[in-house]
Amino acid sequence: MSVHPSPKATGSPAARSRGAHREHRVTVRTLAARKRRGEPISMLTAYDFCFARIFDQAGIDVLLVGDSVANVVQGEETTLPVTLDDIVYHTRAVSRAARRSLVVADMPFGSYHVSPEDAVRSALRLVKEGGAHAVKLEGGAAMAETIRRVTAAEIPVMAHIGLTPQSLHRMGGLRVQGRSAAARERLLRDARAVEEAGAFALVLEAMPPEAAARVTAEVGIPTIGIGAGALCDGQVLVMHDLLGLSEWTPSFVKQYADLGARAARAARAFAEEVRERKFPDERHTYA
Ligand code: KIV
Repeated sequence: MSVHPSPKATGSPAARSRGAHREHRVTVRTLAARKRRGEPISMLTAYDFCFARIFDQAGIDVLLVGDSVANVVQGEETTLPVTLDDIVYHTRAVSRAARRSLVVADMPFGSYHVSPEDAVRSALRLVKEGGAHAVKLEGGAAMAETIRRVTAAEIPVMAHIGLTPQSLHRMGGLRVQGRSAAARERLLRDARAVEEAGAFALVLEAMPPEAAARVTAEVGIPTIGIGAGALCDGQVLVMHDLLGLSEWTPSFVKQYADLGARAARAARAFAEEVRERKFPDERHTYA
């Protein structure tokens, strides 16, 4: 019996995947080229379809479905309670909106710590169910084998060193890292280890600018800083901090909009018009 391909399934596998994977999509290769050319990379967190679409259309290179969703969306004090199911759910919403940006899903605490096999299983869910293009995990040399195994399963890994919020209890709080010469050497060792293990990029969080600059100069993969100074290959912010939706922001954050105050004004105006029976008026009622 001959098999007739459906009209949709014609063309070579490469041509078909080009259709699904737009030519102008930011990829891990794009980011590597940016580092070579000295062109900065922009990354923002996103957790839902609405903001992911806005950021994608605004030209943000990477959308990170961060485990910071625990703090800014779920109202948790730390990132520790967020589950793999939570991140899969938010990643699906973000990846549906992202037409150009690279979508990176954070691997939550506990989803990659027991064994590399566990890490591969978790990362596969983020790609297969969430639609992520890559995953991010926290840790340096200690995570090298895990990075190797996830990368070997065809899933690109972004590493994250410096202040790693999932290590809160081991670190005895959320502290700036790399203040001493020994700590800066450790950061460098960690950065080299994750690069050697196959990570395609590296988040540097909360460290003196000189420490981040040295790591950036000494590794071949792009570094993306948060509270790590201007000399990284890119910068990332949590969207709620950028937009003025957080109750409190760290001193390194630049707030680019005040959506919190604007939303409060809109809600107050609505409540007042409802109380005064001004809304709905004739213009805002079905005929
Ligand atoms: O979860 C997150 O938002 C992050 C960024 C701070 C890098 O990991």
